[in-house]
Amino acid sequence: MNIQEIMARFAIPAILCLAALGCAYYFYCLSALRRLSSLGLEETADFIFGPGLGLVGALQLRGEILPFLRQTFGSPPKVVAEIGRAKGGTLAMLCRAASPEALVISLDLPGSRHSGPLPLFNKGGWRLPLLRAMKGPRQDLRLIDGDSRSPASAEIFSKALDGKKLDLLFIDGDHTFEGVRSDFEMYSGFVRPGGVIAFHDIQPGYELELGVAVSRFWKEYPLPGKRAEFIADSSQLSYGIGALRLPG
Ligand SMILES: C[S@@+](CC[C@H](N)C(=O)[O-])C[C@H]1O[C@@H](n2cnc3c(N)ncnc32)[C@H](O)[C@@H]1O
Repeated sequence: MNIQEIMARFAIPAILCLAALGCAYYFYCLSALRRLSSLGLEETADFIFGPGLGLVGALQLRGEILPFLRQTFGSPPKVVAEIGRAKGGTLAMLCRAASPEALVISLDLPGSRHSGPLPLFNKGGWRLPLLRAMKGPRQDLRLIDGDSRSPASAEIFSKALDGKKLDLLFIDGDHTFEGVRSDFEMYSGFVRPGGVIAFHDIQPGYELELGVAVSRFWKEYPLPGKRAEFIADSSQLSYGIGALRLPG
């Protein structure tokens, strides 16, 4: 049997097998997320940093996002938002940390910059059931797809809030200096006095390679309020969460 005959005989069954495995993994993640929606933060972290990592994982360090969410709020936040969703890992964590009746907003331009190794993997309606399964049964989840820098996105964001103010805004979208500055300047006004704005990737890392400049923004921009840092290891490249509690 020559190579063409071998390919003809085995390629189609191999592709079908991979597709079946992919579908099985998708439905496994979907049902696991639905079960988790009424469980705790720890169980959610176990899943998104464990078996769910490939499909719904977070681009975070567990040792940073968990302490940040546990230690920053006296009581579960009621109105929370993120800019930068990727596979939805932080969204799952925010839903679990928020109150059972919380309003949760997630704004993302799927497939855009700083999305991890497979940016286009986050595009498409096939991901919606997974994202919706992350919320608790009584939570109100608003998924907004758009460029955070566009006034149209800010308008949709404002409508989703419907006059409410955010307890937490998690900024993890466009990681360039201009991108973070724009997200801070356009969306910080939606956060209540005394609320928290968190920035991901405050550790220096891939500045030259990818234009990531959150660490420079965190150091240089005159941010108002009290700061706290959640960094697993001070010598690590990238990651790190900077939390800013606004005055008031
Ligand atoms: C690092 S990922 C977010 C990771 C996610 N928070 C997590 O930890 O699981 C950055 C995300 O921001 C999105 N993004 C980049 N530029 C954006 C922009 N201008 N507006 C909205 N989203 C943007 C990317 O498509 C990507 O999904």
